[in-house]
Amino acid sequence: MRHMHPKPQALAIEHGVSLRDLNTFGLPAVARRLVRIAGDADVRRVLDHPEIGRLPKLVLGGGSNLVLTRDPEAVVLRVEVKGRRLVEVRDDAWIVEFGGGESWHDAVAWTIEQGWPGLENLALIPGTVGAAPVQNIGAYGLELKDRFESLEAVSLITGRCVTLDAKACAFAYRNSVFKRSGPGGLAGKCLITRVRLRLPRPWVPSLGYLDLERRMADTGNHQPDARTVFDWVCAIRRDKLPDPAQIGNVGSFFKNPVVSLEQCRDIISRDPHIVHYLLADGRCKLAAGWLIDACGWKGKTVGRAGVYEKQALVLVNRGGATGAEVVTLARAIQESVYGRFGIRLEPEPVVV
Ligand code: EPU
Repeated sequence: MRHMHPKPQALAIEHGVSLRDLNTFGLPAVARRLVRIAGDADVRRVLDHPEIGRLPKLVLGGGSNLVLTRDPEAVVLRVEVKGRRLVEVRDDAWIVEFGGGESWHDAVAWTIEQGWPGLENLALIPGTVGAAPVQNIGAYGLELKDRFESLEAVSLITGRCVTLDAKACAFAYRNSVFKRSGPGGLAGKCLITRVRLRLPRPWVPSLGYLDLERRMADTGNHQPDARTVFDWVCAIRRDKLPDPAQIGNVGSFFKNPVVSLEQCRDIISRDPHIVHYLLADGRCKLAAGWLIDACGWKGKTVGRAGVYEKQALVLVNRGGATGAEVVTLARAIQESVYGRFGIRLEPEPVVV
């Protein structure tokens, strides 16, 4: 009897899809073509497709690090790879794996519930697990790279799957190989399907961030468990940052600029209150929120885009804003910070 091969599934290409609900800024844009990706085979189907195989592609996760200023020409690949599992228990770590399309916060909450702590400082960061390595998400003294084991990605050029370790990902502050274009860079060249995280045993809390130190002092609890740190981080974020479900935003709009110690001293001599942190390499990181705040931007509105009342580093959609309005506001902020401090702020999200 002849062996029956399953019939290859036809590729579902959706046309004219509104992206307004697929980006946390709530900016209006329409994808000419959108394909939902449930696994690497779907990517190969796209690449093999006679009509769209060779067109440019735009990988879309939770849309929480994206500013849409126009309708993307590219074929939008919406990552919907699901799954979560404990891969391995080592003497020194739990290894857990998530599909790239899983919600980051749900992933963090699940590990805490399962009794595998280590991600609690990164609670409530919007977006998907697959997007987390792209900008090496970080908060409250911890970055993704500190908990990273490896990831699987599929090439948008060849359709081949690769496993990348931390070294290959070249993580840096809000940066990685996936954001870099040019030689060696992978920007726009692959889609992250699965991410494996390493949660060290025994668990050691990361409590060095000022906001967490304040919680310890206020509650008198100096040895919080992971669940407590998780709850504290959620409360701190809810206090300071707008919930994208209520007010459109993409978190911090600019990176905290890094300057030489010399430049830092020069600024301090003029503005002694500037919030700054010394880095291990001798340079100095400045709080962009402070710089923007000092220029008087907090709570301001230009068109339908604004600067959040409680955190000047966060730009918000006051209702019906376009990407162009957000970019106009961002440029005005950059100009005034440059004019006063001589520092160029670099946007954190990807602008399309
Ligand atoms: N500040 C002001 N005015 C403001 C905002 C901040 O003076 O309007 C001062 C604060 O008082 C504080 C300092 O600036 O002394 C730093 O502020 P904060 O602790 O809120 O952190 P941040 O540097 O503004 C970074 C990350 C956040 C992350 C927090 C907590 C970047 C670009 N942002 O913000 O990440 O949640 O630290 O770790 O590194 C994101 O990337 O989207 C994000 C939200």
